[in-house]
Amino acid sequence: MKIGIIGAGFVGRAIGKLAVQAGHQVMLSNSRGAETLFSLPHAVGGEVGTVAEAVAFGDIVVVAIPFSAYRSVPVEPLAGKIVIDTNNYYPERDGRFSELDARATTTSELLADHLPRSRIVKAFNAITMKDLESDGRPAGAPDRRALPLVGDDMEAKSVVIGLYEAFGFDALDVGQLSEGWRFERGTPAYCVPFGKTDLAKTLAATRRDGSIAA
Ligand SMILES: NC(=O)c1ccc[n+]([C@@H]2O[C@H](COP(=O)([O-])OP(=O)(O)OC[C@H]3O[C@@H](n4cnc5c(N)ncnc54)[C@H](OP(=O)(O)O)[C@@H]3O)[C@@H](O)[C@H]2O)c1
Repeated sequence: MKIGIIGAGFVGRAIGKLAVQAGHQVMLSNSRGAETLFSLPHAVGGEVGTVAEAVAFGDIVVVAIPFSAYRSVPVEPLAGKIVIDTNNYYPERDGRFSELDARATTTSELLADHLPRSRIVKAFNAITMKDLESDGRPAGAPDRRALPLVGDDMEAKSVVIGLYEAFGFDALDVGQLSEGWRFERGTPAYCVPFGKTDLAKTLAATRRDGSIAA
């Protein structure tokens, strides 16, 4: 697959590197221009380009920028494409979003509102990139971690499940995009290493306020 990545920080680099190792083609981008990513092709193994070039390049496109910048993601060029939303809401970095503070929506639903014709999957947000790069294990390993995803498009989700598995993780499909609050920042499963059974139990017991049912 060809994977375009918007953002070339911790998340863009980690996903890019693992995707290249898994045999995919990758193009990373940022807001400042490809000339500021001079060393990345060597470190990651992919190409670099502008955001427009990465979006055009990707059969799927990963959004890996600070959440507050989500409205800068190009809309029309992403129509019909699978978009992986890795973002988390950190008010101390992103500023306040009242609808998120009120738990009336989720970061991925806001991105989906911005990209109404794209096929959004929320994934890769609930693991640190250090762990993503170090904790992959072969299928069936006793300590293999599971990672959650949500989305409204089954084909898009199956692509993300394939990436999780190629990176050495079990995938747990938690349902529709609107269920993404179950593994947003601050929830019990957020960035905690769980196997698939325990992750499913923890997410099922998670309440909308971020607490967990006894
Ligand atoms: N770090 C983690 O372990 C981790 C894990 C899971 C999820 N997340 C979430 O994933 C997102 C990215 O995190 P990160 O740690 O990778 O952040 P980061 O290291 O700060 O990198 C952000 C990248 O996005 C680029 N960028 C910023 N604004 C942009 C825009 N408008 N258009 C294009 N590129 C833009 C930045 O480059 P320029 O400023 O040069 O444009 C930079 O390359 C965040 O929402 C974060 O909460 C992080």
